Amino acid sequence: MSEQLDNSPAIKVGVDDGHDGIKLWFGSANAISEPVKVQIKSNAQKGNGGIVDVSERELNQMTVIVEGQNGEEDEVFLVNANHVTNRIDTRTPDYPYNNLNLALIMQAIREQRSVLDGFNRLQIVAGLPANQYYTKLTSSKNDELIDKKVNNLKSINRAYSPADAQLEDGGRFYASDVAVMPEGYGIAFNLMFDDDLNKTEYYEDFYDHGCVIVDIGGRTVDVIKVSRRTCKPKGSDLMSFDQGILYMREAVATAVTERLNRQKTIDDFSVDNILKSGWFGKVGSKGGVDLNDMLDKIKDDHVEVIYQSIKSALESDEAMGGVIISGGGAVLLGDKLKAKIEDHDDNCEVIIPDEVVFGNAKGFWKLAWAKFQ
Ligand SMILES: Nc1ncnc2c1ncn2[C@@H]1O[C@H](COP(=O)(O)OP(=O)(O)OP(=O)(O)O)[C@@H](O)[C@H]1O
Ligand SMILES: [Mg+2]
Repeated sequence: MSEQLDNSPAIKVGVDDGHDGIKLWFGSANAISEPVKVQIKSNAQKGNGGIVDVSERELNQMTVIVEGQNGEEDEVFLVNANHVTNRIDTRTPDYPYNNLNLALIMQAIREQRSVLDGFNRLQIVAGLPANQYYTKLTSSKNDELIDKKVNNLKSINRAYSPADAQLEDGGRFYASDVAVMPEGYGIAFNLMFDDDLNKTEYYEDFYDHGCVIVDIGGRTVDVIKVSRRTCKPKGSDLMSFDQGILYMREAVATAVTERLNRQKTIDDFSVDNILKSGWFGKVGSKGGVDLNDMLDKIKDDHVEVIYQSIKSALESDEAMGGVIISGGGAVLLGDKLKAKIEDHDDNCEVIIPDEVVFGNAKGFWKLAWAKFQ
């Protein structure tokens, strides 16, 4: 990167690049007056062919190209939750550092390009699933993977959209500083420090007693522990289960399809509506079907599965400082899981923070302030 760019004003960004959604937090301080958050689905397909009924302009807006490096070819992605027909699976080992990952993050940044006017230098803190951040065998950092992710994000200027061709430098962004932290720790950091990076009362609690974080994601439910005395994540004792909300969505789709006697499984859009309203079709209408009881049962079953997996962590010393339930899945299951834990473990203090969807992203943004000038 040129020296000139290195001295240009930078914007600090917390990037939580999940399997189901990209969450960004651009925050305030002296860069942008109001905090800006972005959430897009991690939905992309290879190439932008086969899309009908959209203008060339719209198609360009959905397209992100990532230039190849080391002689590799450029890759073209279509990133748009409503138009992707052949979604690329994000659950591959290279997702944390591949071109798809960059394309998704770039598309999320582009959503808020208007408020980023004048800034094209980024200082990024992003996450890796905690059980990938540390190597299981030694509980030490997985430096090889961390380096790959840092280097990939540092090359974010390889990603651009043809829709931005008229902008200076093709509307590219450069990353001058990148750090990677374990997911889940962002949630804890967000609670321990306020927006001015002053310690909160959570810091005191966690310092004395530690805490356990349960991050209910799309793919995984992750459990990480924050150590007493250091307030740093523990490299051992991490847990990660493929029990995220995507699995519950599959259960909803299957149960509702059976209940309605349909041949074809109901689509994602219908599942979204059922999760929101408890109804298939229009709420309260003659043609609509009230599925609230069924949904409640599926949620209870899923909470039971999660509880059984995390139970042992609730007996750890760190749980005495509190158990934090967060992640997008906390919107749907947080209250039920809290009730379940409190029912079984009298002494457990369960906290569902105000900000669950953006907890990691906002914590990473605060970490960017702590780490970078
Ligand atoms: N604003 C919201 N309102 C309601 N539900 C939400 C919201 N955001 C996310 N969810 C639900 O929570 C689930 C998990 O979302 P989240 O963004 O935490 O997953 P992720 O971080 O992409 O996944 P992972 O952590 O496994 O990589 C989503 O699949 C979605 O069903
Ligand atoms: Mg997540």
